Amino acid sequence: MDAPEFTTIIEPFRIHSVEPLRLTTLEQRQAAARDAGYNLFKVHAQDVIIDLLTDSGTGAMSRDQWAALQHGDESYAGSPSYYIFRDAVRELFPFEHVIPTHQGRAAERILFSVLGGAGKVVPNNTHFDTTRANVEYTGAQALDLVVDAAHEADSTYAFKGDMDVARLEALLREQGDAVPLVMMTITNNSGGGQPVSLANLHAVRDVCDAHGKMLFLDACRFAENAWFIREKEAGQSGRDVVDIVREIASLADGMTMSAKKDPMGNIGGWLAMDDDDLARRCRDLLVLTEGFPTYGGLAGRDLETLAQGLREVVHHDYLRYRVRSTAYLGESLQRAGIPVVTPIGGHAVYIDARAMLPGIRPLQYPGQSLAIALYEAGGVRTCEIGTAMFGRRPDGSEEPAAMDLVRLALPRRTYTQSHIDYVIEACRHVAVHRDELRGYRIVEEPPTLRHFTAVFEPLP
Ligand code: F0G
Repeated sequence: MDAPEFTTIIEPFRIHSVEPLRLTTLEQRQAAARDAGYNLFKVHAQDVIIDLLTDSGTGAMSRDQWAALQHGDESYAGSPSYYIFRDAVRELFPFEHVIPTHQGRAAERILFSVLGGAGKVVPNNTHFDTTRANVEYTGAQALDLVVDAAHEADSTYAFKGDMDVARLEALLREQGDAVPLVMMTITNNSGGGQPVSLANLHAVRDVCDAHGKMLFLDACRFAENAWFIREKEAGQSGRDVVDIVREIASLADGMTMSAKKDPMGNIGGWLAMDDDDLARRCRDLLVLTEGFPTYGGLAGRDLETLAQGLREVVHHDYLRYRVRSTAYLGESLQRAGIPVVTPIGGHAVYIDARAMLPGIRPLQYPGQSLAIALYEAGGVRTCEIGTAMFGRRPDGSEEPAAMDLVRLALPRRTYTQSHIDYVIEACRHVAVHRDELRGYRIVEEPPTLRHFTAVFEPLP
């Protein structure tokens, strides 16, 4: 018999422990949305059926991660768990200094406190919202220099996370003194979970070298990015993902990391680099707010689970399933006539709410409207990534964001295909009723990162 050619990519694991879902009615969800000021960050998680708010810290740990947790050593200084963690990081990213933090934004705050400041400019393909906020908090400017294709929701370019190298070159030529470092976010979350090509990373490295600049990775979803390189970039097929990750690391001078994504942690992060002096200044700040350098705000048991998670995330069977299951959701929505950002990204599907709801103007938050409708229809919690998130300028005025997207982020190893089939049905139901959806206005908001706490009201 020939080996069968399976088209079903199964979840490469069995379920080992289950967590019940609380099924709610439409009326209960409408009440919960109203009570939360139409802000899904304020909805109680027990009132959510399928939680696609984020893939951050929401994944399922493996049997071996739970076992590693028992191995945690909680010594204040010099815990063996730290060295296990450091070595697991260095297996993939062989930087001299590995500094644990409680999550990614703590690494960002420390790095930009040292390197940022008024008058500085920090370019990135696209800054994630916490990265941008941490850069701007120091008085520096956060600049997005992603390729133009990233702004075309229906582009078919495979590496929409790429940096526009010509614009980076121009920036460094004209304002080089103001640029303390160049960042690259892999995959590009705010731009649709889109990968960056290896060729682009090499080109960015060359420009950094020509201008004597450091290159740092925001590497949250490095394994998914490496898988896309293996699948889509010329000359890369058949390579071991670990090999690709090491090549990516070799192009950088350091990294910030949220271990709540590809490292399969429920909490954690790190900052890593080669430069001794920079590391010393970062550790000085670490001690001030995060903790001693061998735990940095994490328990020893967390460090152990992350070390194990890093070993698991680079398995090809896992990555094939991961990227395929995200594509399954995206392609099903496309077939239902729902506009999604293409190509489908690694950790999430992004619905183009502006295209889906042309009757709702950007300053009436079409993404917010769609996200609330999905929650009310099926208890599916998603996240607006658009004008509600990015539309407020530092001076308090408003402008439409580049796109109005709704992100359906898939927690790692958490939901089965039937859960996703349910999500698809909820999306189709909302699509059928799209003409009934209304815009929103904001009645209360903080000056930064407003999407977390703003209070919304439906327009009449
Ligand atoms: N960088 C990127 C690209 C991210 O996606 C995130 C978090 C961070 C940095 C910050 O890391 O949350 O550990 O402090 N993204 C989550 C999300 C919150 O939902 O996309 P953190």
